[in-house]
Amino acid sequence: KKVVLAYSGGLDTSIIIPWLKENFGYEVVAMACDLGQGEELQPLEAKALKSGASKVYIVDVREEFLTDYVFPCLRAGAVYEGKYLLGTSMARPLIAKKLVEIAHREGAEAVAHGATGKGNDQVRFEVSVAALDPNLKVIAPWRLWDIRSREEAIAYAAARGIPVPVTKERPYSMDRNIWHLSHEGGDLEDPGNEPPADLYLLTLPPEKAAAAPVYVTIDFEAGTPVGLDGTRLDPVTLVERLNEIGGKHGIGIVDMVENRLVGIKSRGVYETPGGTVLFYALRELERLTLDRATLHFKEMVALKYAELVYDGLWFSPLREALDAFVTSVCRTVTGRVRLKLYRGTISPAGIWSPHSLYLKDLATFERDEMYDHKDATGFINLFGLPLKVRALVKK
Ligand code: ARG
Ligand code: SIN
Repeated sequence: KKVVLAYSGGLDTSIIIPWLKENFGYEVVAMACDLGQGEELQPLEAKALKSGASKVYIVDVREEFLTDYVFPCLRAGAVYEGKYLLGTSMARPLIAKKLVEIAHREGAEAVAHGATGKGNDQVRFEVSVAALDPNLKVIAPWRLWDIRSREEAIAYAAARGIPVPVTKERPYSMDRNIWHLSHEGGDLEDPGNEPPADLYLLTLPPEKAAAAPVYVTIDFEAGTPVGLDGTRLDPVTLVERLNEIGGKHGIGIVDMVENRLVGIKSRGVYETPGGTVLFYALRELERLTLDRATLHFKEMVALKYAELVYDGLWFSPLREALDAFVTSVCRTVTGRVRLKLYRGTISPAGIWSPHSLYLKDLATFERDEMYDHKDATGFINLFGLPLKVRALVKK
């Protein structure tokens, strides 16, 4: 009997390996996705084997993550509760997809994950697995075992010869990938506490950011970023470079109290330097290329799209249908956006598109040929008619 475990190398998922063997008699196959979390991945294979895994998969999904999960959310303009760019939420369905693929390859009857019973991630993993293979069993040790503290987890690991990180761990629960880094827990649990200055790992706090602004130019094709500063780049390189530039200029720090799906309000601090620049840039291009009704409707779609992704409903018919809408709308969202980044702020510094709906001749305060001021009289009379009727009746 085999189980495939979503393995991160941390203490929790490390002790899940012997726990699954002892409590279910499973052979444990460990699977880690390279989502761009960087250095953490190197020692992973040896660590999983030492913890008792029979086999380890490390899958580089960085490009798939950006192309099939992140960029659709970017095109949709999906932002949760006005602030969160969904860095963790988008990664979970992809990890679930890889779990299912490897479970099939290995002939495993179950998959397992290390998310707690109090969070969103458990929902995202399990709803996604069920959508992809309704017959796979899912094991969530956090909801089954009675390990309740870090000390107990360390004792469990020590008793089984599992290496426990010697470095003093940060007191935060973090999730990192190529798009973002999240911090929760520790002193952040009190919304009255400002994040400590040494919290940030990707972004310089604005007051410590470079003293001179920088300009970046981003090229989009049908709503998808394809180039930076005039050079065509693959998604991974593009986002990595923008993270570096944005991070140096203090861009993309979000600090918020958010509503988890399970009914808990939680406090999170997010660093999304490159992503924040891309969201801003695409929005500028949409202002130029989309007509009013479509732009406004797209804002409603964005709201619902974000909620679906946050809630773990990535593999749902509604998300797919909204995606079809967004893809259709984005056909003309092609062009170039220049932005100025300065100490945590972004400002537009030029927008160009072959599909621009902006007609200078029409917008001008100078004399023009297309627009007759006199037309406005009748338009305003009819547009305001219902209000006029109401006022007359009230009298
Ligand atoms: N609150 C964010 C979300 O629900 C981030 C969760 C971070 N997850 C983690 N395992 N540290 O998407
Ligand atoms: C967890 O509970 O595992 C992390 C936080 C979340 O999923 O919301």
